[in-house]
Amino acid sequence: MAKITTTFTCNACGASHNKWSGRCEACGEWNSITEDTPLSAGPGSKSLGAKRGAALHLTDLSTEEAPPPRTQSGMDELDRVLGGGLVPASAILVGGDPGIGKSTLLLQAAAQFAKAGVKTLYVSGEEASAQIRMRAQRLGLTDAPVQLATATALRDILTTMESEKPHLVIIDSIQTMWSDTIDSAPGSVSQVRAAAHELTSFAKRKGVSVVLVGHVTKEGQIAGPRVVEHMVDTVLYFEGERGHQFRILRSVKNRFGPADEIGVFEMTGAGLAEVPNPSALFLSGRGDPSPGSVVFAGIEGTRPVLVEMQALVAPTPHSQPRRAVVGWDSARLAMVLAVLEARCGIPFAGLDVYLNVAGGLRVSEPAADLAVAAALLSAREDTALPAETVIFGEISLSGALRPVGQTENRLKEAQKLGFTSAIAPNGGKTGASSGLALNQFGDLTGFVGDIFGAG
Ligand code: TYD
Ligand code: MG
Repeated sequence: MAKITTTFTCNACGASHNKWSGRCEACGEWNSITEDTPLSAGPGSKSLGAKRGAALHLTDLSTEEAPPPRTQSGMDELDRVLGGGLVPASAILVGGDPGIGKSTLLLQAAAQFAKAGVKTLYVSGEEASAQIRMRAQRLGLTDAPVQLATATALRDILTTMESEKPHLVIIDSIQTMWSDTIDSAPGSVSQVRAAAHELTSFAKRKGVSVVLVGHVTKEGQIAGPRVVEHMVDTVLYFEGERGHQFRILRSVKNRFGPADEIGVFEMTGAGLAEVPNPSALFLSGRGDPSPGSVVFAGIEGTRPVLVEMQALVAPTPHSQPRRAVVGWDSARLAMVLAVLEARCGIPFAGLDVYLNVAGGLRVSEPAADLAVAAALLSAREDTALPAETVIFGEISLSGALRPVGQTENRLKEAQKLGFTSAIAPNGGKTGASSGLALNQFGDLTGFVGDIFGAG
């Protein structure tokens, strides 16, 4: 007979311990540890064998079920990120830094869904109704049939959901919700988890869609949206630089559509405006070709997006040169620098290197390697790349250039935006239709020699 072991969990930080103690070693909280009862040790049962559960109904994988019906909000950028619209009874998490525009986005989305005939309830635990109504006025949404409530007690919210029977409930934010079954403070890991669990399981049971707003938090006192990512169907992050007006809604997980899809918005005085052609926006404000600036033809989700990569290389006054990156991965930058040095003999020692993706976009594709290398070299040599040229390609540690996916889409987008030539790795499906002058290279040394006359 298997021995049933009990575990103890801290209500404040969620850490599990194998014995009770007055103070949690993980977070330092006093009197926060309680005993977990394992599922199989229900009252009266001594072991798994003593009380039997009901047999499960097993099925096979074949299905005649139609794909889930979806409701479009009419905001194309949002619908695409959701995978084509809102799926009934789905749970969606929208995470983002405080002040980035989550409440604005969701109030606009709520209004759109409500106008499309989805009965929508917006529950705020952060702002007073008057504040939300004022925002609605600013956004020109006062006539949308959204129902509004301010509450933080989960029990009240669930009761209201039960009686009002909405199709869509927006909870702003999950960190302010509070369940009376857990006695730790709102915002703690166990509260956030319990509230998310109650809401998502209620949603599944009753066929309601829920959207949970989660603030990304810097310090550990308040649980971040990560702790509920596994409970929801779709995880969206709303990103952007505070100083920029661009906002990007990115799906990092989606059970009903492709992940890594992005929607681009612009924060204006009257709310978020959709940006149907992000390339044009990210490239606007680009002047004449200048050293250190190149245009990368990237793919975000299913869409090609052109962005400007800027590099600055300058002699350092410090013993340790600086490497500063905005919008790209700093480990990847270190790799590109190392390959340039080891394979092409171009040293960056004694030089500060700054790299920036213009417009506040975060690029995570390896296809940007070659664009970064080009920007770095162009800055170092103080020579501008040929005008109206886009560039992409992955660099391997050997210095070889590897073809990347969706080459044809990248070239088409570049052509659409008036570019006349492209630099890319050998291979890759370039397609016959593209009218760009294509410059292909097999390795980094060849590229450096041809474009910068060095190497
Ligand atoms: P908000 O949606 O409250 O952010 P979050 O819910 O993510 O914390 O947005 C806050 C910022 O957006 C605030 O700094 C003001 C700005 N804003 C605009 O620029 N235009 C607008 O129309 C609105 C409603 C907000
Ligand atoms: Mg808010």
